[in-house]
Amino acid sequence: MGISYSPLRYPGGKNQMYNMVLDILEKNNLRGCHYVEPFAGGAGIAIRLLFEGVVDEITINDFDISIYSFWHSIVHQTDEFVALIEKTPITIDEWHRQKYIYANVNEFSLLELGFATFFLNRTNRSGILKAGPIGGLDQSGNYKIDCRFNKLRLIALIQRIAENRAHINICNLDAKCLISDFHRDHSFFFIDPPYFNKGKKLYTNFFELDDHRELAAIIEANLKDIPWIITYDVCQEIREIYAKRIVDTVSLNYSLQSKKKANEFIFFNKLSV
Ligand SMILES: C[S@@+](CC[C@H](N)C(=O)[O-])C[C@H]1O[C@@H](n2cnc3c(N)ncnc32)[C@H](O)[C@@H]1O
Repeated sequence: MGISYSPLRYPGGKNQMYNMVLDILEKNNLRGCHYVEPFAGGAGIAIRLLFEGVVDEITINDFDISIYSFWHSIVHQTDEFVALIEKTPITIDEWHRQKYIYANVNEFSLLELGFATFFLNRTNRSGILKAGPIGGLDQSGNYKIDCRFNKLRLIALIQRIAENRAHINICNLDAKCLISDFHRDHSFFFIDPPYFNKGKKLYTNFFELDDHRELAAIIEANLKDIPWIITYDVCQEIREIYAKRIVDTVSLNYSLQSKKKANEFIFFNKLSV
């Protein structure tokens, strides 16, 4: 699945595309650029590009308040977040407590919500926030709730990310607003919207056909001179929306659990590939 420096396990995570993105950045003189993910999720590629010194600044944007609060907390309240990891037991009782926080956003702070999101992401099946815990509520499965929760490794990762905070912007905008208001040179956008077909099952905020169309219109209108790629599950509707664009297809493992492969479209702007 490719190396990941993201503390989040992310369904549909694009880590596997790291080498392809690196290649595109190098071929197009984009080393040292500002790298923007308007639909960031686990932001695996962004973090790795920053760690490996390929880009100078990253913008991690996600409209889902729980994902945003995770990124915001680890970058801006690192010590408190690490203390929560250290003192929180990884048990089913705790899972119920964290699930309550996740479901009652308004009663809790960004830090509490960010931690609940992280806890559920690391303890749920396939990292899906709406799924149940690994091993089941009765913990009768072969794998147990804490099998993806190596505290020391996760703390080290989070501290490394936080040390780079001067190069990281965290935002909680609708991607369409982020794109509409964007005015900066030497930038590159990696746009990974919710899948056309499977998005509803995997993520909290989902897109309908009209949202995909509107997003395309906003990208075409506002990012004319900025290099970008957009990725999608292969389907006729999306091919039609981006009919004028050069398209490539890549094969990715699409689930954290199964080894099944799925093809994805990639459309390009202002890039030699
Ligand atoms: C396909 S996932 C991104 C996965 C990510 N590229 C990765 O590798 O982990 C889509 C993400 O977009 C977010 N999202 C959904 N609707 C959004 C919107 N209107 N604006 C910004 N983010 C949105 C979801 O919360 C989800 O985290």
